[in-house]
Amino acid sequence: MGSTSSAESIWQLLHKYNNSPGIQSRSIQSLFAGNPGRFREFSISRDGLLLDFSKTHIDARIREALLDLAQMSGLPNAINALFAGEKVNWTENRAALHWAARARRPVSALNAEDNAQLERQERRLADFSASLRQGRLGSIDGITDIIHLGIGGSSLGPKMVIEALGSNPVGNVPNIHFLASADGHAVQRLLSRLQADQTALLVVSKSFATRETRLNTGRILAWMTEAGIEAPIQRVLAITANPARAWDFGIPDKRILTFGSEIGGRYSLWSSAGLPIAIALGLEQFQILRAGARAMDEHFATADLPQNQPVMLALAGIWQRNIRAAVSAAVFGYDSRLRDFSDWLQQLDMESNGKSIGQNGRPVTQATSAALFGGCGTEAQHAVFQMLHQGTDGVAVDFIGVLQADHDYPEHHRFQLANLLAQSNALAFGRDADATRRFLSQSGLSMQDIEAQIPHRIFHGNRPSVTVLLDRLDAYHLGQLLALYEHKIFAQGVIWNINPFDQWGVEFGKTLAGELETVLLGDAETGAEDDLTRYVADRIKT
Ligand code: F6P
Repeated sequence: MGSTSSAESIWQLLHKYNNSPGIQSRSIQSLFAGNPGRFREFSISRDGLLLDFSKTHIDARIREALLDLAQMSGLPNAINALFAGEKVNWTENRAALHWAARARRPVSALNAEDNAQLERQERRLADFSASLRQGRLGSIDGITDIIHLGIGGSSLGPKMVIEALGSNPVGNVPNIHFLASADGHAVQRLLSRLQADQTALLVVSKSFATRETRLNTGRILAWMTEAGIEAPIQRVLAITANPARAWDFGIPDKRILTFGSEIGGRYSLWSSAGLPIAIALGLEQFQILRAGARAMDEHFATADLPQNQPVMLALAGIWQRNIRAAVSAAVFGYDSRLRDFSDWLQQLDMESNGKSIGQNGRPVTQATSAALFGGCGTEAQHAVFQMLHQGTDGVAVDFIGVLQADHDYPEHHRFQLANLLAQSNALAFGRDADATRRFLSQSGLSMQDIEAQIPHRIFHGNRPSVTVLLDRLDAYHLGQLLALYEHKIFAQGVIWNINPFDQWGVEFGKTLAGELETVLLGDAETGAEDDLTRYVADRIKT
């Protein structure tokens, strides 16, 4: 992995292309006008998933340079290394094995013992999901509600998948309530709706050290005790890569599901940490989700770079971020079932690639992860799209659409897709002064008012976007979509020469929070406090 001096020269070449008068003055519209086959040439369709990057400034020459950049950065070797189980997570000296959790078994990159361990955990996952779907955990029966305690990667993935696929739950399975926040308001609100004797806890934490998750677990166990439950710990099932800590917490081995430390938290939904998915949707759906992701893994591992969807998505992003200098990126799903997708992607992208030190221990020479935001298609249009259309900064936008709906209202489906297409068209092609004048002339305004309005009503267009279309939002295609983005982020990490699999940046704030908690208790000084901290400590003294 890593950039080389040859990669350096490709970066320079890309900047040169971008700064050349020809490209600076060339609009996305003119690219389409000059090439009727542009959509077909700059999109990749396979296995029910279309990636369209034709509405960017990428042309054949730029694509070639981007592909050279991928080659020179060692991307093909890095992809091989990922799937061979090599230590691609070099700051933590371990492999990144999220893909192995969804691979065909036995997994060839794992040794016999690790494969056997994977099999054991898979059997336990199947057993726990089957019994919890019937409201049973060990000797406890009648569970109607499961509180899922976990934060960040231990929550965002399963929550998003259940939201996307769980609108028509099969059978009468317990409700799963995701509680990530340790804010007492969130805890209290949830508990006020639940019956302790019908509730079980799923505590999901890779490290089993995360303060929010431990605080919430303790609180809810206390709530159960107060409600007269004798041994509330019997209602807890832990999922972790650190079983010793779960055991120390008082959870017996028989209710601890594990996954390997080589699976990062934000990539953990494919492992035992996906149990909530299997509970909510059934194990079969979970396996189909994995099969979709596996199909994308196989494509990523074997397709030539120009036809490789994650690679081209990564390169289109590199073009936007590094060459066109887009400081933010946005993703909009035009399907309400994808409402949690941008939250999941935000962590995946920003925690993976929000880094500034390269493999050589020196600052990187290229900008890395953009600030990513997003939301649900048409709702976001009425909230944040103004800035996308007429703001001063370029944003790298991804639209995600679904071709076949699973509801009975075709008019609503057409509306969703029409809006997706309208936005990508408006961003790319805009509306010039003449068209704006024609449009306003129908409004009854005087000529003078029309001319005054024109500068505000023009859309300059030429704002790029990428579109991903799924044939359908089922478990298989969702699995593909998630793996598409996982691999895109990996490919970008390789090109930027950073490690997408660690997250040291989050640690410091966490440590400091622990120290400041003791300051707010009122009787400790740690040296970490500032004036604002002292002010807050004074204000909350009773
Ligand atoms: O705070 C960041 C983080 O470390 C994430 O990487 C992780 O997904 C989350 O905390 C939760 O960590 P854990 O699963 O260990 O509780």
